[in-house]
Amino acid sequence: MSIMVPPPLLLLLLPPLLAVLLPGDSCRAADIPEDITAEFSVRLYQRLQARGDQGNIVFSPLSVALALGMVELGARGDSRDEIRRAVGFSQLLPGTEFSLLQNLTSALSEDEAHYVVRFANSLYLQEGVSFSPEFVHLMRKFFRAKVETVDFNKSAAVAEQINHWVENHTESKIRELLSADDFNSLTRLALVNAVYFRGSWKNQFRPENTRTFSFSRDDGSEVQTLMMYQQADFYYGEFSDGSQEAGGVYQVLEMPYEGEDMSMMIILPRQEVPLASLEPIIKAPLLEEWANNVKRQKVEVYLPKFKVEQRIDLKEVLQELGVGNIFTNNADLSGMTDGKDLFVSKVVQKAYLEVTEEGAEGAAGSGMIALTRTLVLYPQVMADHPFFFVIRNQRTGSILFMGRVMTPEVVEPIDDFDSI
Ligand SMILES: *[C@@H]1O[C@H](CO)[C@@H](O)[C@H](O)[C@H]1NC(C)=O
Ligand SMILES: *[C@@H]1O[C@H](CO)[C@@H](O)[C@H](O)[C@H]1NC(C)=O
Ligand SMILES: *[C@@H]1O[C@H](CO)[C@@H](O)[C@H](O)[C@H]1NC(C)=O
Repeated sequence: MSIMVPPPLLLLLLPPLLAVLLPGDSCRAADIPEDITAEFSVRLYQRLQARGDQGNIVFSPLSVALALGMVELGARGDSRDEIRRAVGFSQLLPGTEFSLLQNLTSALSEDEAHYVVRFANSLYLQEGVSFSPEFVHLMRKFFRAKVETVDFNKSAAVAEQINHWVENHTESKIRELLSADDFNSLTRLALVNAVYFRGSWKNQFRPENTRTFSFSRDDGSEVQTLMMYQQADFYYGEFSDGSQEAGGVYQVLEMPYEGEDMSMMIILPRQEVPLASLEPIIKAPLLEEWANNVKRQKVEVYLPKFKVEQRIDLKEVLQELGVGNIFTNNADLSGMTDGKDLFVSKVVQKAYLEVTEEGAEGAAGSGMIALTRTLVLYPQVMADHPFFFVIRNQRTGSILFMGRVMTPEVVEPIDDFDSI
Protein backbone atom coordinates (compact mmCIF):
# COMPACT_ATOMS: atom_id res chain seq x y z
CA MET A 1 0.00 0.00 0.00
CA SER A 2 2.85 2.29 0.50
CA ILE A 3 4.35 1.42 -2.77
CA MET A 4 3.51 4.41 -4.71
CA VAL A 5 3.73 6.84 -1.97
CA PRO A 6 6.80 8.36 -0.53
CA PRO A 7 9.29 7.14 1.85
CA PRO A 8 8.32 4.38 3.95
CA LEU A 9 9.76 3.90 7.17
CA LEU A 10 10.40 0.43 8.05
CA LEU A 11 9.95 -0.39 11.60
CA LEU A 12 11.19 -3.63 12.48
CA LEU A 13 10.61 -5.00 15.68
CA LEU A 14 12.56 -7.87 16.46
CA PRO A 15 12.19 -10.27 19.05
CA PRO A 16 12.38 -12.16 21.78
CA LEU A 17 14.29 -14.96 22.00
CA LEU A 18 14.12 -17.00 24.82
CA ALA A 19 15.54 -20.14 26.06
CA VAL A 20 13.88 -20.97 29.14
CA LEU A 21 14.33 -23.29 31.86
CA LEU A 22 13.02 -23.89 35.20
CA PRO A 23 11.37 -22.69 38.32
CA GLY A 24 12.15 -21.94 41.85
CA ASP A 25 10.87 -19.67 44.49
CA SER A 26 11.07 -16.02 45.04
CA CYS A 27 10.87 -12.98 47.09
CA ARG A 28 9.04 -9.98 45.98
CA ALA A 29 10.66 -6.70 46.36
CA ALA A 30 8.78 -3.69 45.33
CA ASP A 31 11.26 -1.28 43.90
CA ILE A 32 12.21 0.88 41.15
CA PRO A 33 10.63 1.76 37.96
CA GLU A 34 7.18 0.44 37.59
CA ASP A 35 6.07 -0.59 34.16
CA ILE A 36 2.82 0.99 33.10
CA THR A 37 2.33 -0.89 29.88
CA ALA A 38 0.51 -3.95 31.21
CA GLU A 39 -2.81 -2.74 29.88
CA PHE A 40 -1.30 -2.20 26.45
CA SER A 41 0.34 -5.63 26.61
CA VAL A 42 -2.92 -7.36 27.33
CA ARG A 43 -4.74 -5.44 24.60
CA LEU A 44 -2.08 -6.54 22.14
CA TYR A 45 -2.58 -10.11 23.20
CA GLN A 46 -6.34 -9.83 22.82
CA ARG A 47 -5.93 -8.46 19.29
CA LEU A 48 -3.59 -11.26 18.30
CA GLN A 49 -5.88 -13.81 19.80
CA ALA A 50 -8.89 -12.31 18.04
CA ARG A 51 -7.34 -13.11 14.69
CA GLY A 52 -9.06 -16.37 15.10
CA ASP A 53 -6.58 -19.02 14.25
CA GLN A 54 -6.00 -21.60 16.85
CA GLY A 55 -2.23 -21.46 16.80
CA ASN A 56 0.39 -20.75 19.40
CA ILE A 57 1.11 -17.13 20.22
CA VAL A 58 4.31 -15.55 21.43
CA PHE A 59 5.34 -11.94 21.39
CA SER A 60 7.17 -9.42 23.52
CA PRO A 61 5.01 -6.57 24.75
CA LEU A 62 8.00 -4.77 26.19
CA SER A 63 9.75 -5.00 22.87
CA VAL A 64 6.75 -3.46 21.12
CA ALA A 65 6.67 -0.66 23.68
CA LEU A 66 10.36 0.01 23.09
CA ALA A 67 9.93 0.13 19.34
CA LEU A 68 7.02 2.51 19.67
CA GLY A 69 9.06 4.59 22.10
CA MET A 70 11.77 4.86 19.48
CA VAL A 71 9.28 6.11 16.91
CA GLU A 72 7.68 8.44 19.42
CA LEU A 73 11.04 10.02 20.05
CA GLY A 74 10.95 11.39 16.53
CA ALA A 75 7.20 11.94 16.32
CA ARG A 76 5.23 15.12 16.85
CA GLY A 77 1.59 16.10 16.97
CA ASP A 78 -0.96 13.36 16.49
CA SER A 79 1.71 10.87 15.62
CA ARG A 80 3.16 11.31 19.06
CA ASP A 81 -0.11 11.62 20.94
CA GLU A 82 -1.51 8.41 19.54
CA ILE A 83 1.49 6.44 20.69
CA ARG A 84 1.38 8.01 24.13
CA ARG A 85 -2.28 7.19 24.53
CA ALA A 86 -2.09 3.65 23.19
CA VAL A 87 0.91 2.53 25.17
CA GLY A 88 -0.25 4.19 28.38
CA PHE A 89 2.27 6.99 28.54
CA SER A 90 -0.34 9.75 28.75
CA GLN A 91 -0.34 9.37 32.48
CA LEU A 92 3.29 10.51 32.55
CA LEU A 93 4.69 13.96 32.01
CA PRO A 94 5.54 14.28 28.31
CA GLY A 95 9.00 12.97 27.65
CA THR A 96 9.27 10.98 30.85
CA GLU A 97 8.42 7.78 29.03
CA PHE A 98 11.85 7.63 27.41
CA SER A 99 13.56 7.71 30.73
CA LEU A 100 11.13 5.13 32.02
CA LEU A 101 11.83 2.77 29.12
CA GLN A 102 15.51 3.28 29.68
CA ASN A 103 15.17 2.48 33.37
CA LEU A 104 13.01 -0.55 32.72
CA THR A 105 15.49 -2.03 30.29
CA SER A 106 18.41 -1.43 32.56
CA ALA A 107 16.53 -2.89 35.52
CA LEU A 108 16.09 -6.00 33.42
CA SER A 109 19.64 -6.15 32.26
CA GLU A 110 21.33 -5.76 35.57
CA ASP A 111 21.18 -9.24 36.99
CA GLU A 112 23.70 -10.73 34.60
CA ALA A 113 24.71 -13.46 36.96
CA HIS A 114 21.37 -15.19 36.79
CA TYR A 115 19.89 -14.60 33.41
CA VAL A 116 20.60 -12.76 30.25
CA VAL A 117 18.34 -10.17 28.71
CA ARG A 118 19.60 -8.22 25.74
CA PHE A 119 17.79 -5.43 24.08
CA ALA A 120 19.47 -4.81 20.81
CA ASN A 121 18.06 -1.78 19.14
CA SER A 122 19.29 -0.42 15.92
CA LEU A 123 18.30 2.21 13.48
CA TYR A 124 19.17 1.96 9.81
CA LEU A 125 19.10 5.16 7.81
CA GLN A 126 19.09 5.64 4.09
CA GLU A 127 22.40 6.98 2.92
CA GLY A 128 22.03 10.53 1.85
CA VAL A 129 19.05 11.35 4.04
CA SER A 130 19.91 13.46 6.96
CA PHE A 131 18.53 12.81 10.36
CA SER A 132 18.41 15.20 13.24
CA PRO A 133 21.58 14.86 15.30
CA GLU A 134 19.48 15.45 18.39
CA PHE A 135 17.30 12.48 17.49
CA VAL A 136 20.29 10.26 16.90
CA HIS A 137 21.75 11.37 20.20
CA LEU A 138 18.56 10.63 22.12
CA MET A 139 18.19 7.26 20.44
CA ARG A 140 21.61 6.35 21.73
CA LYS A 141 20.92 7.73 25.14
CA PHE A 142 17.54 6.18 25.87
CA PHE A 143 17.58 3.10 23.72
CA ARG A 144 21.26 2.47 23.23
CA ALA A 145 20.23 2.22 19.65
CA LYS A 146 22.85 1.63 17.10
CA VAL A 147 22.67 3.90 14.10
CA GLU A 148 23.90 2.94 10.68
CA THR A 149 23.40 4.13 7.19
CA VAL A 150 22.60 1.70 4.43
CA ASP A 151 21.43 1.88 0.88
CA PHE A 152 17.95 0.43 0.85
CA ASN A 153 18.14 0.31 -2.91
CA LYS A 154 20.35 -2.68 -2.38
CA SER A 155 17.58 -4.42 -0.59
CA ALA A 156 19.03 -7.90 -0.59
CA ALA A 157 22.28 -6.69 0.92
CA VAL A 158 20.46 -4.66 3.56
CA ALA A 159 18.26 -7.58 4.53
CA GLU A 160 21.31 -9.74 4.85
CA GLN A 161 23.12 -7.18 6.96
CA ILE A 162 20.20 -6.75 9.33
CA ASN A 163 19.55 -10.48 9.52
CA HIS A 164 23.15 -11.03 10.49
CA TRP A 165 22.92 -8.46 13.15
CA VAL A 166 19.75 -9.94 14.51
CA GLU A 167 21.12 -13.43 14.40
CA ASN A 168 24.15 -12.23 16.23
CA HIS A 169 22.08 -10.74 19.01
CA THR A 170 19.79 -13.68 19.48
CA GLU A 171 22.29 -16.48 19.82
CA SER A 172 21.33 -17.46 16.31
CA LYS A 173 17.78 -18.29 17.28
CA ILE A 174 16.26 -15.73 14.97
CA ARG A 175 17.39 -16.04 11.42
CA GLU A 176 16.15 -14.77 8.13
CA LEU A 177 13.96 -12.20 9.70
CA LEU A 178 13.86 -10.03 6.63
CA SER A 179 14.06 -10.53 2.95
CA ALA A 180 14.81 -8.21 0.09
CA ASP A 181 11.07 -7.77 -0.36
CA ASP A 182 10.87 -5.95 2.93
CA PHE A 183 12.66 -2.94 1.47
CA ASN A 184 12.51 -0.88 -1.62
CA SER A 185 13.92 2.32 -2.96
CA LEU A 186 11.44 4.31 -0.92
CA THR A 187 12.51 2.95 2.41
CA ARG A 188 14.31 5.57 4.46
CA LEU A 189 14.46 4.21 7.91
CA ALA A 190 14.39 0.81 9.51
CA LEU A 191 14.11 0.28 13.20
CA VAL A 192 15.14 -3.08 14.45
CA ASN A 193 14.46 -4.10 17.96
CA ALA A 194 15.61 -7.44 19.21
CA VAL A 195 15.17 -8.92 22.61
CA TYR A 196 16.99 -11.94 23.73
CA PHE A 197 16.35 -13.69 27.00
CA ARG A 198 17.93 -16.75 28.44
CA GLY A 199 17.18 -17.79 31.95
CA SER A 200 17.67 -20.88 34.02
CA TRP A 201 14.90 -22.14 36.20
CA LYS A 202 15.58 -21.77 39.82
CA ASN A 203 14.37 -25.35 40.14
CA GLN A 204 15.40 -27.28 37.12
CA PHE A 205 13.61 -30.25 35.70
CA ARG A 206 15.59 -33.43 35.47
CA PRO A 207 15.85 -34.62 31.89
CA GLU A 208 15.53 -38.22 33.04
CA ASN A 209 12.03 -37.42 34.27
CA THR A 210 10.85 -36.26 30.89
CA ARG A 211 8.49 -38.63 29.14
CA THR A 212 6.41 -38.82 26.03
CA PHE A 213 2.93 -37.83 26.94
CA SER A 214 -0.36 -37.07 25.25
CA PHE A 215 -1.35 -33.45 24.94
CA SER A 216 -5.02 -32.78 24.19
CA ARG A 217 -5.62 -29.84 21.95
CA ASP A 218 -8.73 -27.73 22.14
CA ASP A 219 -10.13 -29.27 18.99
CA GLY A 220 -10.11 -32.62 20.75
CA SER A 221 -7.17 -34.07 18.87
CA GLU A 222 -4.18 -35.45 20.69
CA VAL A 223 -0.50 -35.12 19.97
CA GLN A 224 2.51 -36.72 21.57
CA THR A 225 4.86 -34.34 23.30
CA LEU A 226 7.74 -34.44 25.74
CA MET A 227 6.43 -33.77 29.19
CA MET A 228 8.79 -32.57 31.89
CA TYR A 229 8.10 -33.37 35.48
CA GLN A 230 9.11 -32.21 38.89
CA GLN A 231 7.83 -31.75 42.36
CA ALA A 232 9.16 -28.69 44.12
CA ASP A 233 8.32 -25.43 45.82
CA PHE A 234 6.72 -22.94 43.47
CA TYR A 235 4.16 -20.22 43.73
CA TYR A 236 0.72 -21.53 43.15
CA GLY A 237 -2.89 -20.48 43.35
CA GLU A 238 -6.34 -21.47 42.25
CA PHE A 239 -8.53 -18.71 40.97
CA SER A 240 -12.09 -18.36 39.89
CA ASP A 241 -13.63 -15.78 37.66
CA GLY A 242 -16.78 -16.05 39.67
CA SER A 243 -18.98 -16.40 36.64
CA GLN A 244 -18.16 -19.86 35.40
CA GLU A 245 -17.34 -18.26 32.11
CA ALA A 246 -13.79 -19.45 32.31
CA GLY A 247 -14.86 -22.82 33.47
CA GLY A 248 -14.84 -21.90 37.12
CA VAL A 249 -11.58 -22.60 38.81
CA TYR A 250 -8.28 -22.37 36.95
CA GLN A 251 -4.70 -22.78 38.12
CA VAL A 252 -1.84 -20.31 38.17
CA LEU A 253 1.69 -21.54 38.63
CA GLU A 254 4.59 -19.18 38.92
CA MET A 255 8.04 -20.57 38.29
CA PRO A 256 10.95 -18.25 39.01
CA TYR A 257 14.16 -18.15 37.11
CA GLU A 258 17.41 -18.03 38.98
CA GLY A 259 17.83 -14.75 40.70
CA GLU A 260 14.07 -14.64 41.15
CA ASP A 261 13.50 -11.33 39.46
CA MET A 262 12.08 -13.02 36.42
CA SER A 263 9.43 -15.67 36.40
CA MET A 264 7.07 -17.48 34.14
CA MET A 265 3.43 -17.76 35.03
CA ILE A 266 1.46 -20.61 33.54
CA ILE A 267 -2.29 -20.17 33.55
CA LEU A 268 -4.13 -23.40 33.05
CA PRO A 269 -7.85 -23.97 32.75
CA ARG A 270 -9.40 -27.23 33.82
CA GLN A 271 -8.86 -30.10 31.42
CA GLU A 272 -12.26 -29.96 29.81
CA VAL A 273 -12.31 -26.19 29.45
CA PRO A 274 -10.88 -24.71 26.24
CA LEU A 275 -8.35 -21.96 26.67
CA ALA A 276 -10.56 -19.73 24.54
CA SER A 277 -13.02 -19.48 27.38
CA LEU A 278 -10.34 -18.26 29.78
CA GLU A 279 -8.76 -15.73 27.44
CA PRO A 280 -11.49 -13.09 27.59
CA ILE A 281 -11.09 -12.65 31.33
CA ILE A 282 -7.39 -11.85 31.07
CA LYS A 283 -6.89 -8.21 32.01
CA ALA A 284 -3.95 -6.22 33.26
CA PRO A 285 -5.16 -6.04 36.87
CA LEU A 286 -5.69 -9.78 36.83
CA LEU A 287 -2.02 -10.36 36.01
CA GLU A 288 -1.19 -8.32 39.07
CA GLU A 289 -3.71 -10.23 41.13
CA TRP A 290 -2.23 -13.56 40.14
CA ALA A 291 1.28 -12.41 40.93
CA ASN A 292 0.23 -11.08 44.30
CA ASN A 293 -1.85 -14.02 45.37
CA VAL A 294 0.05 -17.11 44.43
CA LYS A 295 1.51 -18.76 47.50
CA ARG A 296 4.70 -20.63 47.93
CA GLN A 297 4.08 -24.30 48.29
CA LYS A 298 5.03 -27.71 47.04
CA VAL A 299 3.53 -28.46 43.67
CA GLU A 300 3.73 -31.35 41.24
CA VAL A 301 4.36 -29.93 37.82
CA TYR A 302 3.93 -31.55 34.43
CA LEU A 303 4.95 -29.11 31.76
CA PRO A 304 5.63 -29.83 28.11
CA LYS A 305 8.93 -28.87 26.62
CA PHE A 306 7.95 -26.31 24.10
CA LYS A 307 9.25 -24.01 21.51
CA VAL A 308 7.07 -21.28 20.12
CA GLU A 309 8.03 -18.92 17.41
CA GLN A 310 6.10 -16.28 15.58
CA ARG A 311 6.66 -13.45 13.18
CA ILE A 312 3.99 -10.85 13.62
CA ASP A 313 3.22 -7.99 11.32
CA LEU A 314 2.14 -5.50 13.92
CA LYS A 315 0.94 -2.74 11.68
CA GLU A 316 -2.66 -3.84 11.58
CA VAL A 317 -2.73 -4.67 15.26
CA LEU A 318 -1.31 -1.31 16.22
CA GLN A 319 -3.83 0.45 14.01
CA GLU A 320 -6.57 -1.38 15.84
CA LEU A 321 -5.13 -0.13 19.09
CA GLY A 322 -5.19 3.45 17.91
CA VAL A 323 -1.72 3.89 16.51
CA GLY A 324 -2.56 4.75 12.92
CA ASN A 325 -1.15 8.14 12.11
CA ILE A 326 2.47 7.05 11.82
CA PHE A 327 1.52 4.73 8.97
CA THR A 328 -0.06 7.43 6.84
CA ASN A 329 0.97 10.40 4.76
CA ASN A 330 -0.08 12.57 7.66
CA ALA A 331 2.60 11.14 9.86
CA ASP A 332 4.63 13.78 11.60
CA LEU A 333 8.09 12.41 12.21
CA SER A 334 9.69 15.79 12.06
CA GLY A 335 11.68 15.10 15.18
CA MET A 336 13.69 12.55 13.21
CA THR A 337 14.47 14.41 10.07
CA ASP A 338 13.51 17.52 8.23
CA GLY A 339 12.64 15.35 5.25
CA LYS A 340 8.98 15.32 4.34
CA ASP A 341 6.80 12.38 3.66
CA LEU A 342 8.35 10.06 6.13
CA PHE A 343 6.13 7.41 7.56
CA VAL A 344 6.33 3.93 8.97
CA SER A 345 5.61 1.24 6.46
CA LYS A 346 6.21 -1.84 8.45
CA VAL A 347 6.45 -3.12 11.97
CA VAL A 348 7.55 -6.67 12.33
CA GLN A 349 8.33 -8.63 15.39
CA LYS A 350 9.60 -12.12 15.51
CA ALA A 351 9.65 -13.88 18.80
CA TYR A 352 11.12 -17.16 19.77
CA LEU A 353 10.70 -18.89 23.04
CA GLU A 354 12.06 -22.20 24.09
CA VAL A 355 11.26 -23.91 27.33
CA THR A 356 13.38 -26.85 28.36
CA GLU A 357 14.48 -28.67 31.46
CA GLU A 358 17.82 -27.13 31.96
CA GLY A 359 19.11 -23.80 32.69
CA ALA A 360 22.58 -22.92 33.69
CA GLU A 361 25.19 -25.44 34.60
CA GLY A 362 24.99 -27.44 37.73
CA ALA A 363 21.33 -27.81 38.07
CA ALA A 364 20.31 -28.70 41.52
CA GLY A 365 17.27 -30.66 40.64
CA SER A 366 14.94 -31.46 43.42
CA GLY A 367 12.42 -33.42 41.47
CA MET A 368 11.53 -36.91 42.34
CA ILE A 369 11.23 -39.49 39.68
CA ALA A 370 7.63 -40.37 39.50
CA LEU A 371 5.18 -40.28 36.75
CA THR A 372 2.66 -42.38 38.48
CA ARG A 373 -0.08 -40.44 40.07
CA THR A 374 -0.58 -42.54 43.07
CA LEU A 375 -0.66 -40.24 46.01
CA VAL A 376 -1.52 -36.72 45.27
CA LEU A 377 -0.12 -34.98 48.24
CA TYR A 378 0.35 -31.66 46.62
CA PRO A 379 -1.50 -29.62 44.10
CA GLN A 380 -0.83 -30.93 40.68
CA VAL A 381 -0.41 -28.74 37.63
CA MET A 382 -0.82 -30.96 34.60
CA ALA A 383 -0.24 -28.87 31.53
CA ASP A 384 -1.38 -31.53 29.07
CA HIS A 385 -3.79 -29.14 27.36
CA PRO A 386 -3.56 -25.53 26.11
CA PHE A 387 -2.35 -22.84 28.49
CA PHE A 388 -1.50 -19.19 28.64
CA PHE A 389 1.89 -17.91 29.82
CA VAL A 390 3.55 -14.68 30.85
CA ILE A 391 7.21 -14.02 31.54
CA ARG A 392 7.61 -10.95 33.62
CA ASN A 393 9.98 -9.07 35.82
CA GLN A 394 8.54 -9.14 39.28
CA ARG A 395 10.22 -5.99 40.40
CA THR A 396 9.03 -3.74 37.62
CA GLY A 397 6.05 -5.65 36.30
CA SER A 398 7.49 -5.53 32.79
CA ILE A 399 6.14 -8.23 30.55
CA LEU A 400 8.93 -9.65 28.50
CA PHE A 401 6.86 -12.31 26.79
CA MET A 402 3.27 -13.31 26.64
CA GLY A 403 1.55 -16.01 24.70
CA ARG A 404 -0.20 -19.31 24.63
CA VAL A 405 0.65 -22.87 23.81
CA MET A 406 -2.07 -24.60 21.83
CA THR A 407 0.24 -27.27 20.44
CA PRO A 408 3.59 -27.97 22.04
CA GLU A 409 6.47 -29.53 20.24
CA VAL A 410 5.19 -32.71 18.72
CA VAL A 411 7.39 -35.75 18.90
CA GLU A 412 7.30 -38.90 16.92
CA PRO A 413 6.50 -41.54 19.42
CA ILE A 414 8.96 -43.98 17.98
CA ASP A 415 11.77 -44.83 20.24
CA ASP A 416 10.23 -43.90 23.50
CA PHE A 417 9.45 -46.71 25.85
CA ASP A 418 6.06 -45.25 26.62
CA SER A 419 4.91 -45.56 23.11
CA ILE A 420 4.30 -48.76 21.64
C1 LIG B 1 15.10 6.81 35.71
O1 LIG B 1 16.21 6.70 36.56
C2 LIG B 1 16.86 7.95 36.82
C3 LIG B 1 18.10 7.65 37.63
O2 LIG B 1 17.81 6.81 38.69
C4 LIG B 1 15.90 8.86 37.55
O3 LIG B 1 16.51 10.10 37.79
C5 LIG B 1 14.66 9.07 36.68
O4 LIG B 1 13.72 9.83 37.38
C6 LIG B 1 14.06 7.72 36.32
N1 LIG B 1 12.99 7.96 35.38
C7 LIG B 1 11.75 7.54 35.57
C8 LIG B 1 10.74 7.88 34.57
O5 LIG B 1 11.44 6.86 36.54
C1 LIG C 1 28.72 -11.02 15.47
O1 LIG C 1 29.36 -10.98 16.72
C2 LIG C 1 30.75 -11.23 16.65
C3 LIG C 1 31.27 -11.32 18.05
O2 LIG C 1 30.64 -10.42 18.89
C4 LIG C 1 31.42 -10.15 15.85
O3 LIG C 1 32.78 -10.40 15.76
C5 LIG C 1 30.79 -10.15 14.47
O4 LIG C 1 31.33 -9.11 13.73
C6 LIG C 1 29.31 -9.99 14.56
N1 LIG C 1 28.74 -10.10 13.24
C7 LIG C 1 27.85 -9.25 12.80
C8 LIG C 1 27.36 -9.50 11.44
O5 LIG C 1 27.44 -8.32 13.46
C1 LIG D 1 17.33 4.12 -5.75
O1 LIG D 1 16.96 3.63 -7.01
C2 LIG D 1 16.07 4.47 -7.70
C3 LIG D 1 15.73 3.80 -8.99
O2 LIG D 1 15.67 2.43 -8.85
C4 LIG D 1 16.72 5.80 -7.94
O3 LIG D 1 15.80 6.67 -8.58
C5 LIG D 1 17.13 6.40 -6.63
O4 LIG D 1 17.84 7.60 -6.84
C6 LIG D 1 18.00 5.44 -5.88
N1 LIG D 1 18.25 6.01 -4.59
C7 LIG D 1 19.44 6.02 -4.08
C8 LIG D 1 19.55 6.63 -2.75
O5 LIG D 1 20.40 5.54 -4.64
